[in-house]
Amino acid sequence: MTSIRDIPDALIAALRDARHVCVLTGAGVSAESGVPTFREAQDGLWAKYRAEELATPEAFLADPVLIWRWYRWRRELVAEAQPNSGHLAIAKLADRVPRFTLVTQNVDNLHQRAGSSNVIEFHGNIFEDRCFADGSLQAGDDGTAVPTCSECGGNLRPGVVWFGEAIPERALNESCAAAADCDLFLSIGTSSLVYPAAGLADLAKQNGAMVAEINPNPTMNAARFDFSLAGNSGVILPELLNSLSL
Ligand code: APR
Repeated sequence: MTSIRDIPDALIAALRDARHVCVLTGAGVSAESGVPTFREAQDGLWAKYRAEELATPEAFLADPVLIWRWYRWRRELVAEAQPNSGHLAIAKLADRVPRFTLVTQNVDNLHQRAGSSNVIEFHGNIFEDRCFADGSLQAGDDGTAVPTCSECGGNLRPGVVWFGEAIPERALNESCAAAADCDLFLSIGTSSLVYPAAGLADLAKQNGAMVAEINPNPTMNAARFDFSLAGNSGVILPELLNSLSL
């Protein structure tokens, strides 16, 4: 387990002096809340499927009933989950620095439930419903096998960004602007495999920010990160927050 003495002094100093901190989170931040990450095997009924095979427009077109069953299962799972100490530390960190931007690839609402505001949802939100045909945001899932759009009668889908789909324009623009402007960028609980989210760290570094990752399995990309803190976000983030008070 990482203790505070393992957090580099230069990182603590950068956090203390930062004018603008930008944080990118991924599925790992919610792992300690019991939400499975994307690239680990799924449990129970869903064990025979890989998330990457279900989270696509092609999968939805081929079998919308199956995809709705999967998302209802995921909705229940995340609704029952509670924010963990990592989510809470991120929410508190926002109050300790002059400017703070939180970008999340997670669709689970746990940052918001932990008290973070103005969260940039890069991959949408699992609790929203959108029309697959016309893209409109809809009132909600009525529980039918495949709910339909009140406007055009098309199939509704969960309001998340699937593999191969574009990032919502506003989220992309705001995230890129924040990454380019910040002086400290933290990449937390993400495998940094999925673009364009993974490119935000590069953008920050190209613009002179210090860039660090927090991950129990560091991606060890020396060109991208100045520091890799090997450990769980629920442990390291509260320590990083505490370091501001020392
Ligand atoms: N603390 C921090 N990181 C953790 C923890 C933890 N407690 N547990 C696991 N991790 C790390 C893993 O080591 C892994 O690198 O979290 C990362 C999770 O990686 P992915 O499952 O690939 O999730 P993510 O990077 O968020 O995926 C990006 O891809 O599947 C799509 O749209 C989906 O938003 C998702 C995107």
